[in-house]
Amino acid sequence: MRLGIIQTSPAFGNKEKNRGEIEQLTDGLSADLWVMPELALTGYEFRDPAEVRDLAEEVPYGDSTRWLADFCGDRNSWAVMGLAEREGKHVFNTAILCGPHRLLGRYRKLHLFDAELERFEPGNLPLPVFDLGFARVGLMICFDWRYPEAARTLTLRGAQLIAHPSNLVAPYCQAAMVTRALENRVFIATGNRVGHEHRAGRKLHFTGGSVVVNPEGETMTRLDEKKAECRVIEIDPTQADNKLATPRNHLLKGMRPEFYLQKPEE
Ligand code: ACM
Repeated sequence: MRLGIIQTSPAFGNKEKNRGEIEQLTDGLSADLWVMPELALTGYEFRDPAEVRDLAEEVPYGDSTRWLADFCGDRNSWAVMGLAEREGKHVFNTAILCGPHRLLGRYRKLHLFDAELERFEPGNLPLPVFDLGFARVGLMICFDWRYPEAARTLTLRGAQLIAHPSNLVAPYCQAAMVTRALENRVFIATGNRVGHEHRAGRKLHFTGGSVVVNPEGETMTRLDEKKAECRVIEIDPTQADNKLATPRNHLLKGMRPEFYLQKPEE
């Protein structure tokens, strides 16, 4: 399959401009699945919960979901994108998966990072895996990487590829994805953003360097640290079906869950 990784430089609050940037970055390219950043159309550094609410949208009836479904329809492809989701009184940091002219599903970030804890509610849905026919795709969002349980859960649910929309402000995740990919023998596509936001009393720098890592822990591609760009690479998702670290070590069958997360005996 062809996997397209889209690294953007969004302008805070300007959804129209940010949609245009994605259309321009992907112009003339084709992919089966695109992975875009977290909060791709709004930007990240909301001043307060009211600002998040104003920019958040319902899924699937908001403009951003409709736009992504049409983006996929125009390109006969699938795409994962982060957005601020509003549902009644609740606001979530969400990733949606769309295909040609339709929404397939959503995931709400379970592990909120830093000031996100005041801006969003923690996710209340299971970590999802979608079978697209050409790949089984799991979703997690940015700081979820710091909890190995997220990638492991997606692997146990059958993901061959983990799509990982991100707005990374620290430089560790891209390297850590080698470990997440290796320990689960899955592909990981981290779609990050670049640029700065100076809005809520601090200046945030987003670290770019979006990566695709394969089940051998090899970084297949790494994007620029400063530039918005898009790259399409070919991957074979079935490589992730082999869970053997050695002929005798099946990574999942070798788990010893009965000994995990238990208090040692006094
Ligand atoms: C993050 O979770 N956006 C760092």
